[in-house]
Amino acid sequence: MAAIVNTLPLFFVACAIALSLGFSCAEAESDGFSVELIHCDSPKSPFFNSSETHTERLSKAFARSLRHVNHFSKSLFSTKIPESMVIPDHDTLTFGSTAGLPVSFPKLIFGCGHNNAGTFKERATGIVGLGGGSVSLIPQLGAGVVSTPITSQALYPVFYYLTLEAISVGNKRIENTKPISGEGNIAIDSGTTFTVLPSRLYSEIESEILKNVAAKRVPDPTGTLSLCYQYTPALRYPTLTAHFTNADVKLSPNNVFLLMNDQVVCLALGPTDKVPIFGNIVQIGFLVGYDIQKKTVSFMPIDCSKA
Ligand SMILES: *[C@@H]1O[C@H](CO)[C@@H](O)[C@H](O)[C@H]1NC(C)=O
Repeated sequence: MAAIVNTLPLFFVACAIALSLGFSCAEAESDGFSVELIHCDSPKSPFFNSSETHTERLSKAFARSLRHVNHFSKSLFSTKIPESMVIPDHDTLTFGSTAGLPVSFPKLIFGCGHNNAGTFKERATGIVGLGGGSVSLIPQLGAGVVSTPITSQALYPVFYYLTLEAISVGNKRIENTKPISGEGNIAIDSGTTFTVLPSRLYSEIESEILKNVAAKRVPDPTGTLSLCYQYTPALRYPTLTAHFTNADVKLSPNNVFLLMNDQVVCLALGPTDKVPIFGNIVQIGFLVGYDIQKKTVSFMPIDCSKA
């Protein structure tokens, strides 16, 4: 009896995903998505059999659960036995979004199956994996999304603060000053163009970049930024990674090095002894989600020219 009770959630999910899930009911959220699961015994399900009695329905459900237990306990130790010969294909999956605009996930693996085995009825038109395997929807959507806590800052409460633990220039990790416990040490602001970092962190990043870039130094034509190079298309830049608490955000050269004109490229970061700000140039190419209830900010790399 205990075995049946334990597998009820499993059977619930298996039933629901055996339906061709209408993704109109799927909603992308800041750092995830939600899908309405309809139980196959629900009157809302196309599998609902109105001539079954309640007892029949329950006993069939228990029988299905038991078949699942047997099926999964068999394959648990032989995960290499194929359940299906799948011809993989890549396509774009688009969700409606709580933010308004739909969110697209390109290059998702879709497959056509042959010799399909399993406990799913032939009436099912497709299976969406929501488990932990590599072709499941979850790790495919989750690829690249990272979240970091929003922390408070008593001094300027108008901003959302994050905790920037360090910045890496290539493989060299440069630690940031530890914030007072419970407080953030950098504001995130889409209304500020340049990113300004604590002076000590900035100067260490600058000297590390100097060591790594082989190009002629020139002054900034606007007289603002301190590290500029003569631009050539062959110029190679080190990769910078912002290490927020629980979230490493790998920046592309476009987030860090700004072409001032066709001859000069500058490091688009600056030092400050006041409020450090993670500005909008470093946010280009990311879907940045604010979850005010969970108090997190999430970053997902996205190709804005295609989204
Ligand atoms: C619906 O339930 C009835 C009663 O149990 C059964 O005879 C019939 O085969 C079921 N129909 C389908 C399509 O499963």
